[in-house]
Amino acid sequence: MSQETTTAAASTFIETFANDVQLGLKGSPKTLSSRYFYNTKGDELFQLIMKLPEYYPTRSEYEIFSTHKQKMLELFHNGGETFQLIEFGAGDGTKTKILLKHLVDQQVEFTYLPIDISGNVLEQLQDSLAQELPTCKVNIMPYEYFDALERINAESKLRKVILFLGSNIGNFTGERAHQFLQGLAERMNPNDLLMIGMDLMKDPKTILNAYNDAQGITREFNLNLLDRINEELGGNFNRQHFTHYPTYNPITGETKSFIISTKKQEVHIAALNQTFHFEAWEPIQTELSQKYNLPAIEQMALGAGFQIKSMLFDCKHWFVDAVLSKP
Ligand code: AVI
Repeated sequence: MSQETTTAAASTFIETFANDVQLGLKGSPKTLSSRYFYNTKGDELFQLIMKLPEYYPTRSEYEIFSTHKQKMLELFHNGGETFQLIEFGAGDGTKTKILLKHLVDQQVEFTYLPIDISGNVLEQLQDSLAQELPTCKVNIMPYEYFDALERINAESKLRKVILFLGSNIGNFTGERAHQFLQGLAERMNPNDLLMIGMDLMKDPKTILNAYNDAQGITREFNLNLLDRINEELGGNFNRQHFTHYPTYNPITGETKSFIISTKKQEVHIAALNQTFHFEAWEPIQTELSQKYNLPAIEQMALGAGFQIKSMLFDCKHWFVDAVLSKP
Protein backbone atom coordinates (compact mmCIF):
# COMPACT_ATOMS: atom_id res chain seq x y z
CA MET A 1 0.00 0.00 0.00
CA SER A 2 1.21 3.54 -0.75
CA GLN A 3 1.81 5.97 2.13
CA GLU A 4 -1.29 7.93 1.05
CA THR A 5 -3.53 4.86 0.90
CA THR A 6 -2.26 3.72 4.31
CA THR A 7 -2.95 7.13 5.84
CA ALA A 8 -6.41 7.31 4.25
CA ALA A 9 -7.28 3.80 5.49
CA ALA A 10 -6.03 4.66 9.01
CA SER A 11 -8.02 7.89 9.17
CA THR A 12 -11.18 6.10 8.00
CA PHE A 13 -10.63 3.48 10.73
CA ILE A 14 -10.17 6.11 13.45
CA GLU A 15 -13.28 7.97 12.29
CA THR A 16 -15.34 4.76 12.41
CA PHE A 17 -13.88 3.85 15.83
CA ALA A 18 -14.65 7.35 17.21
CA ASN A 19 -18.16 7.24 15.77
CA ASP A 20 -18.88 3.78 17.21
CA VAL A 21 -17.55 4.80 20.64
CA GLN A 22 -19.71 7.91 20.64
CA LEU A 23 -22.86 6.01 19.65
CA GLY A 24 -22.12 3.24 22.15
CA LEU A 25 -21.48 5.50 25.12
CA LYS A 26 -24.47 7.72 24.35
CA GLY A 27 -26.78 4.71 24.22
CA SER A 28 -28.77 3.21 27.04
CA PRO A 29 -27.51 0.74 28.11
CA LYS A 30 -23.98 1.79 27.14
CA THR A 31 -22.17 -0.53 24.72
CA LEU A 32 -18.70 -0.81 23.11
CA SER A 33 -18.09 -3.28 20.30
CA SER A 34 -15.82 -6.27 20.92
CA ARG A 35 -14.42 -5.82 17.41
CA TYR A 36 -12.20 -3.11 18.93
CA PHE A 37 -10.60 -5.62 21.34
CA TYR A 38 -8.07 -6.57 18.70
CA ASN A 39 -5.20 -4.06 18.67
CA THR A 40 -1.62 -5.36 19.12
CA LYS A 41 -2.10 -5.76 22.88
CA GLY A 42 -5.55 -7.35 22.39
CA ASP A 43 -4.15 -9.84 19.85
CA GLU A 44 -1.43 -10.83 22.34
CA LEU A 45 -3.98 -11.25 25.14
CA PHE A 46 -6.24 -13.36 22.92
CA GLN A 47 -3.28 -15.64 22.13
CA LEU A 48 -2.85 -16.09 25.92
CA ILE A 49 -6.59 -16.68 26.41
CA MET A 50 -6.53 -19.55 23.89
CA LYS A 51 -3.93 -21.31 26.05
CA LEU A 52 -5.75 -20.79 29.39
CA PRO A 53 -6.90 -23.91 31.27
CA GLU A 54 -10.42 -22.41 31.57
CA TYR A 55 -10.79 -21.41 27.89
CA TYR A 56 -11.87 -24.77 26.44
CA PRO A 57 -13.23 -23.76 22.94
CA THR A 58 -9.81 -23.69 21.21
CA ARG A 59 -8.79 -27.08 22.63
CA SER A 60 -12.18 -28.62 21.80
CA GLU A 61 -12.00 -27.52 18.17
CA TYR A 62 -8.36 -28.63 17.95
CA GLU A 63 -9.52 -32.08 19.06
CA ILE A 64 -12.24 -32.06 16.36
CA PHE A 65 -9.60 -31.36 13.70
CA SER A 66 -7.30 -34.09 15.05
CA THR A 67 -10.08 -36.69 15.28
CA HIS A 68 -12.07 -35.90 12.14
CA LYS A 69 -9.42 -34.81 9.62
CA GLN A 70 -10.09 -37.87 7.40
CA LYS A 71 -13.86 -37.21 7.47
CA MET A 72 -13.12 -33.57 6.52
CA LEU A 73 -10.93 -34.78 3.63
CA GLU A 74 -13.76 -36.98 2.34
CA LEU A 75 -16.38 -34.23 2.60
CA PHE A 76 -14.18 -31.51 1.12
CA HIS A 77 -12.54 -33.55 -1.65
CA ASN A 78 -15.91 -34.82 -2.93
CA GLY A 79 -14.64 -37.80 -4.89
CA GLY A 80 -11.41 -36.26 -6.11
CA GLU A 81 -12.44 -32.77 -7.18
CA THR A 82 -9.82 -29.97 -6.88
CA PHE A 83 -11.03 -27.30 -4.48
CA GLN A 84 -10.17 -24.00 -2.84
CA LEU A 85 -9.98 -24.09 0.96
CA ILE A 86 -10.92 -20.59 2.11
CA GLU A 87 -10.55 -19.55 5.75
CA PHE A 88 -12.13 -16.45 7.28
CA GLY A 89 -10.09 -14.81 10.06
CA ALA A 90 -7.30 -17.35 9.69
CA GLY A 91 -5.10 -16.05 12.55
CA ASP A 92 -2.05 -18.26 13.12
CA GLY A 93 -3.78 -21.29 11.54
CA THR A 94 -2.93 -23.68 14.41
CA LYS A 95 -6.07 -25.82 13.99
CA THR A 96 -6.20 -25.57 10.20
CA LYS A 97 -2.60 -26.77 9.88
CA ILE A 98 -3.70 -30.21 11.16
CA LEU A 99 -6.07 -30.46 8.20
CA LEU A 100 -3.62 -28.90 5.72
CA LYS A 101 -0.94 -31.40 6.69
CA HIS A 102 -3.36 -34.31 6.27
CA LEU A 103 -4.49 -33.07 2.84
CA VAL A 104 -0.87 -32.59 1.71
CA ASP A 105 0.14 -36.03 3.04
CA GLN A 106 -2.76 -37.63 1.15
CA GLN A 107 -1.74 -35.71 -2.03
CA VAL A 108 -5.09 -33.94 -2.33
CA GLU A 109 -5.23 -31.17 -5.00
CA PHE A 110 -6.26 -27.91 -3.33
CA THR A 111 -5.20 -24.30 -2.71
CA TYR A 112 -5.43 -22.69 0.73
CA LEU A 113 -6.74 -19.12 0.73
CA PRO A 114 -6.57 -17.57 4.22
CA ILE A 115 -8.52 -14.31 4.50
CA ASP A 116 -7.80 -11.78 7.21
CA ILE A 117 -8.11 -8.02 7.32
CA SER A 118 -4.58 -7.92 8.77
CA GLY A 119 -1.98 -8.40 6.01
CA ASN A 120 0.62 -8.78 8.75
CA VAL A 121 -1.06 -11.84 10.25
CA LEU A 122 -1.35 -13.40 6.77
CA GLU A 123 2.31 -12.87 5.93
CA GLN A 124 3.34 -14.58 9.17
CA LEU A 125 1.01 -17.49 8.37
CA GLN A 126 2.40 -17.73 4.83
CA ASP A 127 5.98 -17.81 6.16
CA SER A 128 5.20 -20.49 8.74
CA LEU A 129 3.44 -22.63 6.09
CA ALA A 130 6.41 -22.26 3.72
CA GLN A 131 8.56 -23.75 6.51
CA GLU A 132 6.19 -26.43 7.78
CA LEU A 133 4.32 -27.48 4.61
CA PRO A 134 6.40 -26.27 1.66
CA THR A 135 4.30 -28.12 -0.95
CA CYS A 136 0.98 -26.60 0.19
CA LYS A 137 -0.29 -24.02 -2.36
CA VAL A 138 -1.17 -20.83 -0.46
CA ASN A 139 -2.70 -17.61 -1.74
CA ILE A 140 -3.20 -14.99 1.02
CA MET A 141 -6.12 -12.56 0.76
CA PRO A 142 -5.90 -9.36 2.87
CA TYR A 143 -9.52 -8.23 2.34
CA GLU A 144 -12.88 -8.05 4.06
CA TYR A 145 -14.56 -11.49 3.94
CA PHE A 146 -17.23 -10.78 1.31
CA ASP A 147 -14.85 -8.73 -0.89
CA ALA A 148 -12.44 -11.65 -0.86
CA LEU A 149 -15.20 -14.13 -1.81
CA GLU A 150 -16.28 -11.96 -4.72
CA ARG A 151 -12.70 -11.78 -6.00
CA ILE A 152 -12.35 -15.56 -5.67
CA ASN A 153 -15.65 -16.10 -7.53
CA ALA A 154 -14.55 -13.72 -10.32
CA GLU A 155 -11.18 -15.44 -10.74
CA SER A 156 -12.05 -19.13 -10.56
CA LYS A 157 -14.88 -21.60 -11.05
CA LEU A 158 -13.31 -24.17 -8.70
CA ARG A 159 -15.36 -25.57 -5.87
CA LYS A 160 -15.11 -23.57 -2.61
CA VAL A 161 -14.89 -24.92 0.93
CA ILE A 162 -15.16 -22.06 3.43
CA LEU A 163 -13.98 -22.36 7.06
CA PHE A 164 -15.28 -20.01 9.76
CA LEU A 165 -13.87 -21.45 12.98
CA GLY A 166 -13.48 -20.66 16.67
CA SER A 167 -17.15 -19.80 17.30
CA ASN A 168 -16.43 -16.35 15.89
CA ILE A 169 -20.06 -16.37 14.69
CA GLY A 170 -21.02 -16.25 18.40
CA ASN A 171 -19.67 -12.69 18.62
CA PHE A 172 -22.42 -11.57 16.21
CA THR A 173 -25.93 -10.74 17.41
CA GLY A 174 -28.59 -13.19 16.17
CA GLU A 175 -29.64 -10.73 13.47
CA ARG A 176 -26.08 -10.12 12.23
CA ALA A 177 -25.31 -13.84 12.26
CA HIS A 178 -28.40 -14.42 10.11
CA GLN A 179 -27.42 -11.68 7.63
CA PHE A 180 -23.84 -12.96 7.51
CA LEU A 181 -24.90 -16.54 6.76
CA GLN A 182 -27.40 -15.35 4.15
CA GLY A 183 -24.68 -13.24 2.52
CA LEU A 184 -22.45 -16.32 2.38
CA ALA A 185 -25.21 -18.49 0.91
CA GLU A 186 -25.73 -15.88 -1.86
CA ARG A 187 -22.03 -16.06 -2.77
CA MET A 188 -21.80 -19.87 -2.72
CA ASN A 189 -22.57 -22.37 -5.51
CA PRO A 190 -24.62 -25.54 -4.92
CA ASN A 191 -21.50 -27.71 -4.70
CA ASP A 192 -19.61 -25.44 -2.27
CA LEU A 193 -19.35 -26.11 1.48
CA LEU A 194 -19.20 -24.02 4.63
CA MET A 195 -17.72 -25.45 7.85
CA ILE A 196 -18.59 -23.31 10.81
CA GLY A 197 -17.35 -23.78 14.39
CA MET A 198 -19.85 -23.18 17.19
CA ASP A 199 -19.54 -23.40 20.95
CA LEU A 200 -22.30 -25.47 22.56
CA MET A 201 -24.33 -25.03 25.74
CA LYS A 202 -22.86 -26.98 28.65
CA ASP A 203 -22.48 -26.69 32.45
CA PRO A 204 -22.98 -22.95 33.00
CA LYS A 205 -20.05 -22.92 35.45
CA THR A 206 -17.67 -24.22 32.76
CA ILE A 207 -18.82 -21.48 30.38
CA LEU A 208 -18.63 -18.68 32.92
CA ASN A 209 -15.13 -19.74 34.06
CA ALA A 210 -13.92 -19.53 30.45
CA TYR A 211 -14.70 -15.80 30.55
CA ASN A 212 -13.51 -15.23 34.12
CA ASP A 213 -10.14 -16.98 34.33
CA ALA A 214 -8.19 -17.14 37.57
CA GLN A 215 -5.16 -15.31 36.13
CA GLY A 216 -7.31 -12.33 35.08
CA ILE A 217 -6.22 -12.43 31.41
CA THR A 218 -9.81 -12.10 30.14
CA ARG A 219 -10.29 -9.17 32.52
CA GLU A 220 -7.23 -7.49 30.93
CA PHE A 221 -8.58 -8.31 27.46
CA ASN A 222 -11.90 -6.60 28.26
CA LEU A 223 -10.41 -3.56 30.06
CA ASN A 224 -7.83 -3.10 27.28
CA LEU A 225 -10.69 -1.50 25.36
CA LEU A 226 -10.55 1.46 27.76
CA ASP A 227 -6.77 1.77 27.28
CA ARG A 228 -7.31 1.70 23.53
CA ILE A 229 -9.84 4.55 23.72
CA ASN A 230 -7.38 6.48 25.91
CA GLU A 231 -4.50 5.91 23.47
CA GLU A 232 -6.25 6.33 20.15
CA LEU A 233 -9.06 8.78 20.96
CA GLY A 234 -7.50 10.76 23.81
CA GLY A 235 -9.79 9.41 26.53
CA ASN A 236 -9.12 9.67 30.26
CA PHE A 237 -10.68 6.43 31.52
CA ASN A 238 -9.10 5.41 34.83
CA ARG A 239 -9.02 1.61 34.88
CA GLN A 240 -9.00 1.57 38.70
CA HIS A 241 -12.62 2.66 38.65
CA PHE A 242 -13.92 0.01 36.26
CA THR A 243 -14.31 -3.73 36.67
CA HIS A 244 -14.74 -6.79 34.40
CA TYR A 245 -18.05 -8.65 34.78
CA PRO A 246 -19.06 -11.67 32.64
CA THR A 247 -22.50 -13.32 32.74
CA TYR A 248 -24.05 -16.45 31.23
CA ASN A 249 -27.77 -16.93 30.66
CA PRO A 250 -28.50 -20.69 30.46
CA ILE A 251 -31.94 -20.03 28.91
CA THR A 252 -30.73 -18.04 25.89
CA GLY A 253 -27.09 -19.23 25.73
CA GLU A 254 -25.90 -15.62 25.73
CA THR A 255 -22.53 -15.07 27.41
CA LYS A 256 -22.11 -11.33 27.86
CA SER A 257 -19.13 -9.40 29.12
CA PHE A 258 -19.49 -6.02 30.73
CA ILE A 259 -17.21 -3.28 32.00
CA ILE A 260 -18.82 -1.79 35.12
CA SER A 261 -18.17 1.67 36.47
CA THR A 262 -17.51 1.18 40.21
CA LYS A 263 -18.39 4.81 41.06
CA LYS A 264 -20.18 7.86 39.77
CA GLN A 265 -17.69 9.52 37.39
CA GLU A 266 -17.12 11.50 34.20
CA VAL A 267 -14.84 10.51 31.34
CA HIS A 268 -13.65 12.94 28.67
CA ILE A 269 -12.76 11.78 25.15
CA ALA A 270 -10.76 14.46 23.35
CA ALA A 271 -11.30 13.14 19.79
CA LEU A 272 -15.06 13.43 20.35
CA ASN A 273 -14.78 16.65 22.32
CA GLN A 274 -17.31 15.12 24.72
CA THR A 275 -17.65 14.12 28.35
CA PHE A 276 -19.60 10.98 29.29
CA HIS A 277 -21.30 10.51 32.62
CA PHE A 278 -21.31 7.17 34.46
CA GLU A 279 -23.56 6.32 37.39
CA ALA A 280 -22.14 4.14 40.17
CA TRP A 281 -22.33 0.46 38.99
CA GLU A 282 -23.47 1.43 35.50
CA PRO A 283 -22.52 -1.27 32.94
CA ILE A 284 -21.04 -1.01 29.44
CA GLN A 285 -21.78 -4.17 27.45
CA THR A 286 -18.67 -5.10 25.46
CA GLU A 287 -19.06 -8.63 24.13
CA LEU A 288 -21.59 -11.29 23.24
CA SER A 289 -20.31 -14.88 22.92
CA GLN A 290 -23.38 -16.90 21.96
CA LYS A 291 -23.56 -20.58 22.98
CA TYR A 292 -25.82 -22.83 20.90
CA ASN A 293 -27.85 -26.03 21.15
CA LEU A 294 -28.49 -28.31 18.18
CA PRO A 295 -32.06 -27.13 17.41
CA ALA A 296 -30.81 -23.50 17.40
CA ILE A 297 -28.00 -24.40 14.97
CA GLU A 298 -30.43 -26.21 12.69
CA GLN A 299 -32.83 -23.28 12.75
CA MET A 300 -30.04 -20.80 12.03
CA ALA A 301 -28.65 -22.88 9.14
CA LEU A 302 -32.02 -23.60 7.49
CA GLY A 303 -33.18 -20.00 8.05
CA ALA A 304 -30.20 -18.70 6.07
CA GLY A 305 -30.74 -21.12 3.17
CA PHE A 306 -28.39 -23.99 4.10
CA GLN A 307 -28.77 -27.71 4.78
CA ILE A 308 -26.64 -29.58 7.32
CA LYS A 309 -24.35 -32.19 5.71
CA SER A 310 -22.41 -33.25 8.79
CA MET A 311 -21.83 -32.33 12.44
CA LEU A 312 -18.35 -33.02 13.83
CA PHE A 313 -18.05 -33.04 17.64
CA ASP A 314 -15.27 -33.32 20.22
CA CYS A 315 -15.58 -36.25 22.65
CA LYS A 316 -17.33 -34.17 25.33
CA HIS A 317 -19.77 -32.60 22.83
CA TRP A 318 -18.70 -29.14 24.01
CA PHE A 319 -18.13 -27.75 20.51
CA VAL A 320 -19.27 -28.55 16.97
CA ASP A 321 -17.95 -27.93 13.48
CA ALA A 322 -21.08 -27.97 11.31
CA VAL A 323 -20.61 -28.66 7.59
CA LEU A 324 -23.30 -26.88 5.56
CA SER A 325 -24.21 -26.71 1.89
CA LYS A 326 -26.95 -25.17 -0.23
CA PRO A 327 -29.84 -27.62 -0.80
C1 AVI B 1 -13.03 -14.63 19.29
N1 AVI B 1 -14.17 -15.07 20.13
C2 AVI B 1 -14.83 -16.23 19.53
C3 AVI B 1 -13.83 -15.24 21.55
C4 AVI B 1 -15.09 -15.68 22.35
O1 AVI B 1 -15.01 -16.69 23.04
O2 AVI B 1 -16.12 -15.02 22.23
C5 AVI B 1 -13.27 -13.96 22.16
C6 AVI B 1 -13.08 -14.03 23.65
N2 AVI B 1 -13.60 -13.23 24.53
C7 AVI B 1 -13.22 -13.55 25.75
N3 AVI B 1 -12.48 -14.63 25.66
C8 AVI B 1 -12.36 -14.97 24.35
